[in-house]
Amino acid sequence: MKAIVRYTYGSLALEEVDKPTIKDDEVLVRVRAASVNPYDWHHLTGTPYIMRIGAGLRKPKETAMGVDVAGVVEAVGPDVTGFQPGDEVFGMRSGAFAEYMGVREVRIALKPAGLTFEQAAAVPLAALTALQALRDKGKIQAGQQVLINGASGGVGTFAVQLAKVFGTKVTAVCSTRNVDTARSLGADRVIDYTREDFVQSGQVYDLILDVAGNRSIADRKRALAPNGILVLVGGPKKGRWLGPLTSALMLVLASKIGSKKLMPMLTQLVNEDLVALRKLLETGQLKPVVERTYPLHEVPQALRYVGEGHSQGKIVISV
Ligand SMILES: NC(=O)c1ccc[n+]([C@@H]2O[C@H](COP(=O)([O-])OP(=O)(O)OC[C@H]3O[C@@H](n4cnc5c(N)ncnc54)[C@H](OP(=O)(O)O)[C@@H]3O)[C@@H](O)[C@H]2O)c1
Repeated sequence: MKAIVRYTYGSLALEEVDKPTIKDDEVLVRVRAASVNPYDWHHLTGTPYIMRIGAGLRKPKETAMGVDVAGVVEAVGPDVTGFQPGDEVFGMRSGAFAEYMGVREVRIALKPAGLTFEQAAAVPLAALTALQALRDKGKIQAGQQVLINGASGGVGTFAVQLAKVFGTKVTAVCSTRNVDTARSLGADRVIDYTREDFVQSGQVYDLILDVAGNRSIADRKRALAPNGILVLVGGPKKGRWLGPLTSALMLVLASKIGSKKLMPMLTQLVNEDLVALRKLLETGQLKPVVERTYPLHEVPQALRYVGEGHSQGKIVISV
């Protein structure tokens, strides 16, 4: 089968490799689409360097790339109970930039009816992040004023829609070219950050989802209501050694002073959450925004684009 492989940090190749052999509790999926995340860009470049402690110091321990997948079950191991050949599925597991992958059933769910494979592949990491940040870390409640800083990328486009599903008043912060999209996703107010600074406006928010992660602690606190919560999701791709870890640590320390809570988050693959997202996608309450689709051999170009940090919604690979 064809797969994108990575033997050193910074370079990728499309190669002919062995089709995976599945374990007893795994499902063999014929990949139809994958999506690209900043996570993949960090794994390609091996930055920030601290991640190499787990991923491999001199070279990557794992050659496979890509985590978001949608495809068709081709075979199941004897211990698999929830899926059968022919099922259309979506989920998360490393090795999505390939024609086939083996995956444990807990990491996948049935693909939302009515979505293409490309749309379904756009969902897992970005939408799980938005859901868990708003609901679990942010303790979102109906009627709250919610600000999404970085509302136009993968996580942000899902976050705007989910925050509306939770019954909140949503302010979306994005650049000029994304203002209309943010509005169409349901944002009550859109702030074009090239023209207006949300911190200076005087408005405060009960919950801030900081996807862009580009503001100082003082700015973040200024924009939060008393007892408000800020969840730090991501940050600019700078800081070669520690990257966003530095601002996450600073945030935890800053949170110890005063009534405003500031906290980082780490997305978990929770099967029930994938199923919950599927239901919202099937009822049309949630729609994936896909800006571009690339073929498998153009994964390097797709990763380069995502690395620039200005994707409109998701970037997808058609396999
Ligand atoms: N904590 C976790 O577990 C977790 C999980 C998933 C993702 N993440 C992180 O979350 C971040 C976003 O992920 P993603 O998939 O949404 O990335 P993405 O699709 O590349 O989107 C990034 C977005 O950031 C926006 N942006 C850039 N500069 C901005 C600024 N100054 N103000 C406001 N928005 C700005 C861009 O919009 P414009 O083009 O309009 O500027 C772009 O749409 C990344 O840092 C990623 O690593 C963390």
